[in-house]
Order: sequence, then C-alpha cells, then structure tokens
Amino acid sequence: MNILILGSGGREHVFAMKISQSPICSHLFIAPGNAGTMECGANVNISPLDFDAIEAFCIKENIKLIIPGPEDPLVAGLVDFVKGSEKLKNVAILGPPKAGAMLEGSKDFSKSFMISHGIPTAAYLTVTTDNLQQGLDFLETLEAPYVLKADGLAAGKGVLIEQDLDTAKNALKEILDGKFGNAGNKVVIEEFLHGIEMSCFVLTDGRDYIMLPEAKDYKRIGEGDQGLNTGGMGAVSPVPFAGKAFLDKVENSIVKPTIQGLLKDGIPYCGFIFIGLMNSGGEPRVIEYNCRMGDPETEVVLHRVENDLVELFLAACQQELAEFELKVNPDTAVTVVLVSGGYPGSFEKGFEIKHLEQVTDSTIYHAGTKLESGKTLTNGGRVMAITSTGKNIKEAIAISMRNAGKVDFNNKYYRKDIGLDLLTYHEQT
Ligand code: AMP
Ligand code: GLY
Repeated sequence: MNILILGSGGREHVFAMKISQSPICSHLFIAPGNAGTMECGANVNISPLDFDAIEAFCIKENIKLIIPGPEDPLVAGLVDFVKGSEKLKNVAILGPPKAGAMLEGSKDFSKSFMISHGIPTAAYLTVTTDNLQQGLDFLETLEAPYVLKADGLAAGKGVLIEQDLDTAKNALKEILDGKFGNAGNKVVIEEFLHGIEMSCFVLTDGRDYIMLPEAKDYKRIGEGDQGLNTGGMGAVSPVPFAGKAFLDKVENSIVKPTIQGLLKDGIPYCGFIFIGLMNSGGEPRVIEYNCRMGDPETEVVLHRVENDLVELFLAACQQELAEFELKVNPDTAVTVVLVSGGYPGSFEKGFEIKHLEQVTDSTIYHAGTKLESGKTLTNGGRVMAITSTGKNIKEAIAISMRNAGKVDFNNKYYRKDIGLDLLTYHEQT
C-alpha cells in the first residue's frame, strides 16, 4: 500500500518512522516533510492545504491511505474533499470531516458541544460585538485570573490569561477589534480552572474508540513554566498523577460522551481526538479538544505504541477498532525539544546541526530541519525532539538530557526541567 503523510513536524516524523517499518507499506511519501522524514520515505513539495495538488499526487502515485498530521487541512475540509472526489474513491483518509474538526477550529462550537452533551468543562460565555456588554458583565461575575480565547485557529496564540479585571475587559475589546484577525470575531470567556494539566488521546472510528497513552506537555518557553507559550517544549508519558481511577473517570465522563455526542450530532468522526484537560483535585474537566495528535506528545505517546501503525490506522478507517488490541510499552518516555534561540518570537534558521551521530539510546524526531548539500540545517523554531524511554521517569529524563546536550547548532535552547516536576508526584486520584 502506498501512503501519504501530510505535515512537517516531529509528529509527522513519528508517523513516518513507524509506518516505514510496517510490511503493509510499499511506498511512503511525506508532504512536505523534513530532513528526518526523508530517511523514511520520499518528501514531496506539496502544501497540506493544496487539495488539488494532493488529489493529483494521490492519483499519480496510487496512494491508498492519507494521514494528515496538523489541524489546518482538517479544519479546511480536506476529508470532505477526499470523500467527495470521484477520483479518490478508493483512498482512505485518517481524520474527521470539517464538522468534526470544528471541535478544534471553533472554541464556541466545542464549548457548546461539551455543554450539550454533559461533558465537564469550565463555565463560559461567547461574546461578539453584538453582546459586548454581556461579556463585560460576565467577566465581573468571575474570579481572577480571566481566560479569553479567540474562537478560531490562531496558531496557538489566541488564548489570553489576565490577572486583572480591567486588563481583561480591554483585551476582550481588542480581540473583537481584530487583535487576532478574523479568528477573534467571537471570543470565548471562560472560568479559570485550577489544577494540573495533562492530555488524553483517543483514536476513534466513529463508533468505537481506543484510548492511547496519556501525556503531559511543557508549553512555556522558560524553565519552571515561565514565559511565552510555545507549541510544546517537551512531554512525558505515562503521567504519574493520572492513575487508573482518574483515567477511568476521563473515559466515562469525557471520552464516552464525546464519541456518543458526535454520533448523536451526525458527525462521522474518524481519527484522533486530543483532549486537553485539567485534573482539579482528581476530577477531570476539558480545557480543549484538538482534532489531531499533539506535537511533541506524539513523540512519547506513539513512541510507546508497539503495534504496526498502519494496521492501527487502517482499523480506524475501516471501523474495526472494536477488535483492535493496543500494545503499549510500559516504560516511561520523555521527549526534550531543541529549539532555535528566540523562539517562539523571531529566530534565525539555516544553522548546521552537528553531532547527531553521537546520540545514543534516544530516538531523534526531526521537526524544523532540512537537508541541503548533505548538511542538516535548522529550518524552524522547534528543531527536533529527543525521545528516550526508561524503567522510570528519572532514567528517561537522564538519557534525553544527555543527548540534548550533545547535539549542537547555533543558538540551541532547550528546557532542562522537563519531567522534573513529576519526580515527586504520588498518584492523585
Ligand atoms: P487552549 O488553547 O484552549 O488549550 O489554551 C491554552 C492554554 O491556556 C491551556 O493549555 C491552559 O494552560 C490554559 N487554559 C486555557 N483555558 C483555561 C482555563 N479555563 N483555565 C485554566 N487554564 C486554561
Ligand atoms: N503540544 C500541544 C499541541 O500539539 O497542541
């Protein structure tokens, strides 16, 4: 079977590496890919948002399975396009239709979905210029800090958390005035949830589902969770404070009603659901849904999955997940992300990445890298994720940190505290 992966991050390198090991896969293509995915298959210079080019490529290369990594093509309706194309009749695609991707594409849609299906989440109000006063009044009823979210996709930058009521009121007006472009035509104001954040990952075929391993991500640029939000600076799986009792609650009060809610609403959802949640004193509440896998969470979550990934993905596309048995490595996986200095603000790229061959006992998942004249160069903010497994979290951290120190490029930066907060956790359920 010929397979096409869409995207160019660490998540897509995980897909590519595992899929290239599957005997079911004949030829693997990654569009556009990075220097790492080139070692697993052929990179193709097509944008995941260029649906016509994807269609033409699938016909030319006899692609039978498409795996979109990021959310943008899903929110833009790639799955609807593929399913509606006469020419792609026999091509499977792992992802939700646009109606399902709106769980990520619109905060307003996802909040109203949660409320209508009884899924625990923060209280909220959606505000437009038409009910601005109601929004300002709602902020008055909340306690600090105040959470404001642009409704649409804003490249991870559309969430503001303000300590002060007046600042929050001004921010509300600024977002409605276009601070985040059209993504902020609606603003979701939310109650602030206290607790510890973590993420659960579900693969569903629209009827049945599989719970993938959970993970904790480190979103801020600075150590001790300080500074600007990033796409993710590291991740750990499993999560020591998410014991069986807690994960059972997540499954019963969140995952099942989500799958049933999609069914009731007539949304044929095949693909990943990434649930960002808060563990508030042992009670899970949903912060957000994403319609795809996380990055860098995939670098620990799917890193631990031992099944043939093509078999798993095909089972989802063919509504056969009920029969599927997931095999997970019980060891702990830790990934540490190396970034270009300056990220998530402006940064330089094009620096040579050296000493990759000195990395031992870890897997390097490339993200912002490219190969030019035989050299691997930095080509993005997040450059690569270094994943290691160990019998315990301490061992896995030590291996990843040792190797993170060896790889070298100009302005390299990484957080040296990934996972350290979890060393002292005892199960909280
Ligand atoms: P989101 O894009 O919705 O995941 O929000 C980005 C980040 O803001 C989350 O990962 C949380 O750390 C934080 N956040 C969002 N909503 C809330 C909330 N209601 N209470 C507390 N923190 C939140
Ligand atoms: N690491 C967070 C995300 O993928 O959205």
